[in-house]
Amino acid sequence: MSWQRWVRTVEIEPSLYAADFSRLGEQIETLLRAGARVFHFDVGDGHFVPPVTIGPIVLQWIAPAILDHDGVVDCHLMVDEPEKHFEAIREAGGSSVTFHYEAVADPQAVATKAREHGLAVGLAFNPETAVEDAAAAAADGFDLVLCMSIHPGYSGQEFMRDAIQRIRTLRQLLPPDVLIQVDGGVGPDNVRELYGSGASLLVAGTSIFGREDLPRAYRRLVSLLA
Ligand code: DX5
Ligand code: ZN
Repeated sequence: MSWQRWVRTVEIEPSLYAADFSRLGEQIETLLRAGARVFHFDVGDGHFVPPVTIGPIVLQWIAPAILDHDGVVDCHLMVDEPEKHFEAIREAGGSSVTFHYEAVADPQAVATKAREHGLAVGLAFNPETAVEDAAAAAADGFDLVLCMSIHPGYSGQEFMRDAIQRIRTLRQLLPPDVLIQVDGGVGPDNVRELYGSGASLLVAGTSIFGREDLPRAYRRLVSLLA
């Protein structure tokens, strides 16, 4: 499993956490028709982050449609002890897991476990964590590093501007084949700058699902990157 093979040069990833859950399947189909292929799926445990969000039980219902379109289900694990969930996520159709640097003692060991389950793997880090620490931990064995541009937990928060500089630093520190992802407050005002700073996986929740016309909101973000 490899992100390098899955993704285009740059991807806008709809964050399903911001979807209307009464119409989840329908909204995914709409975005697949609009060209989205990488979907971000946020798992929160009520401990590492305050809310309990969604998990494998929901994932198993939505993954088939995405995988049928050669898409990717990118699971962001905002949880303690992420390794406990790898098997269930894989069985439910997850493609990749990204766990938090702050949640584990040995990121390399946890990444190895993810790979043993056939999952690609990313390392996320919070706004308070030093970029250098995250980059050092992710230099080997990770497909992507997720730079949080909000405090993780909820959709709809304001973008923290210092993420731009953190991404620039990260791009200098990481091997070129490790992708950079950004999550939180991403939208039309910052996608271009984020891409220019070195992030190529741009997670967008409210800026897509908060709009009336989802395909149009998705396509607008894509067109801003052209
Ligand atoms: C929250 C999640 C995000 C969230 C982003 O911590 O990790 O993926 O859905 O939502 P927006 O784009 O609205 O900030
Ligand atoms: Zn997320």
